[in-house]
Order: sequence, then structure tokens, then C-alpha cells
Amino acid sequence: MSEKKHRVSRRQFLNYTLTGVGGFMAAGMLMPLVRFAVDPVLQTTAGGEFVNTKVKVDELTSEPLRVDFTVKQKDAWYESEEPKSAWVYKKDNGDILALSPICKHLGCTVNWNADPANPNRFFCPCHNGLYEKDGTNVPGTPPPAPLDVYELQVKDGFLYLGKAKPRGEA
Ligand code: FES
Repeated sequence: MSEKKHRVSRRQFLNYTLTGVGGFMAAGMLMPLVRFAVDPVLQTTAGGEFVNTKVKVDELTSEPLRVDFTVKQKDAWYESEEPKSAWVYKKDNGDILALSPICKHLGCTVNWNADPANPNRFFCPCHNGLYEKDGTNVPGTPPPAPLDVYELQVKDGFLYLGKAKPRGEA
């Protein structure tokens, strides 16, 4: 039985060593580039943030008021300001309700008291959709669900709005 010695030649040793060191150096240079390219896509935008609408809560009444505000958005590398709206009023018990104006049928914008034939309701002009004052969709009209409800906070007397969520989740 012959004993086979496995010896590493000087040439092989240099090859292994240089390949290893070169690999480390390449990884060290490439990692920041990969991170720069991929990181913004993987980062989640801060959720649950509330935006000051600059509307004083004391000035709200039982009549729905259209409140316009902007939300800062970050989509990977691109930052933008998205305009948003809400219909806001005080309920009989004094609680504030902030409704999304986006129709649940096909996404048109609903308006308060805009149809003379349906006073004190939200009206969607696209397909004559109707909602009650509390955002409930009127049966027999196209919208299949109530208007979304904004999460809200009151800070220093001002109304802050968060995300609009389907009824029951807000
Ligand atoms: S989009 Fe509002 S009723 Fe169709």
C-alpha cells in the first residue's frame, strides 16, 4: 500500500492565498455598492405617522368640512408630497369623525351635500353613489362598502390625521 502524500506546491499556495485575499477585497468593495442599490427598496416607510392638518378642533362643527393636507412619501429613492383630503365633523357625542373622500366603488371623490335630490349625504358624481353622513354606503347605489375612516389624534388643539382604514379597522 503506497502512501500518497498530498503536498501543496509553492505555486498552489500563492494561488490559494491570492485568490482568498482578492475575494475579501472584492467583497469589501462590492458590499457598499450592493447596499446602496438595494437598501432603499427594502426599507419600510414609517407607518402610523400622523400629519398636522392645521385645522383647530374647536372650529369643527357637526357639518362635514373638507380638510386638505399633504403627506410626505418616500418610495425607494424618490421623496414626494402626496395631497390628501378628508371630510371631518363632530358627531352628536362630540367625537370627531374623519372620512376618506375616496368612493369605494371605483375611487372617484365624494362630496358632501352635492346632490340636491339627496341632501345631507355624501354624493359620488361618477355613478351617482350615495353615502350617509357617517360614511355608510346607501343600499341600491353602486358603492359596495362604507367610506374609509382616518385614524386621528388631537394635539395642542389641532387635528392630526393618520392612515385611512376600512371601517372597523380604524
Ligand atoms: S366611483 Fe363612486 S359611484 Fe362609482
